[in-house]
Amino acid sequence: MNTHVTGHQIDQTDFRHVMSQLPTGVVAVTGVEASTGAPAGLIVGTFQSLSLAPPLVAFSVARTSGSWPRIRAGGRFSASVLAEGQHHVCRALSRRTGDKFAGVEWHPSPDGAPRIGGAVAWIDCGPEQELDGGDHVIVVARVLRMATNPGEPLVFHRGRLGGYRAPAVA
Ligand SMILES: Cc1cc2nc3c(=O)[nH]c(=O)nc-3n(C[C@H](O)[C@H](O)[C@H](O)COP(=O)(O)O)c2cc1C
Repeated sequence: MNTHVTGHQIDQTDFRHVMSQLPTGVVAVTGVEASTGAPAGLIVGTFQSLSLAPPLVAFSVARTSGSWPRIRAGGRFSASVLAEGQHHVCRALSRRTGDKFAGVEWHPSPDGAPRIGGAVAWIDCGPEQELDGGDHVIVVARVLRMATNPGEPLVFHRGRLGGYRAPAVA
């Protein structure tokens, strides 16, 4: 598609195609289900910084998500910015059924939320607010703790996972 689309009738396929031109990071949002202690998680491409003071992040979650209500009920959660090469983690945690954490290496944050091993950043969060976002909810969360690790990020662009290459400095 290489045309201008305007007006009120925005086709969902066109909308996805246009938005897929915007590269995003790939973030695992993970917590522990309060009733069972089992890890719960999903992948989001909408994670972003929202505010410096107070330190807030935001991301959107489909209203159909089975994992988010379980993570939210558990309280504290972690956001792991996946590293290049962690395609398997993205695939595992974006499944809707089965044991999402099979083959996924993680260790608990000080709050007990799973931090994905090898991620380039961990951001431990506490949920603050949920705002209406159409068929999604916009989650606003406070940053409680964070850390970075060496490595390059995993990038989602035009429907595919890839890597980021820093431009050579002349
Ligand atoms: C690269 C990528 C980005 C995604 N971004 C989002 C997102 O921002 N919000 C969302 O709700 N789902 C997103 N998804 C889909 C969810 O990860 C997936 O639907 C989720 O794991 C469903 O599982 P659940 O029902 O257990 O929550 C994304 C998936 C992939 C592969």
